[in-house]
Amino acid sequence: MAYTWDKDLETGYVLVDNQHRQLIMLVNDLQVSIVQGKGVDEIKGTVEFLRFYVIRHFEDEENLQLKFGYGDYYEHVARHREFKLRVNELATRLYKEGPSPELVEEISECVGDWLVNHIKGDDLKMAAYIRTHSTPSAPTF
Ligand SMILES: [Fe+2]
Repeated sequence: MAYTWDKDLETGYVLVDNQHRQLIMLVNDLQVSIVQGKGVDEIKGTVEFLRFYVIRHFEDEENLQLKFGYGDYYEHVARHREFKLRVNELATRLYKEGPSPELVEEISECVGDWLVNHIKGDDLKMAAYIRTHSTPSAPTF
């Protein structure tokens, strides 16, 4: 169940990679907490931090794309927006219905799996673009 970090997920950019690692850790923490039977009050901190961190990370990524004139910017932003909505929906359900095995499953499908696929697809594509479009004098991230 737990997501592990591996080389396939590396974009080669420290800021992005560290944020991705943190996001994966948060998803794992959340799932473990639910499986351990923790209640809403106990997991609320992790859920809220995940929501905050997703927003912050996406903002950082989107700013980088703007800075380097990334052609797929709008498509990428639309995917981020969809994901943020899904995370918010899941959080709302979690608070309303309480933690359950079904929610652990949904967190895997809608959050964990999505993140891993997004990193391997969209984010690696973005990183490759930036690598080939940065000049030696341009600031790196
Ligand atoms: Fe992204």
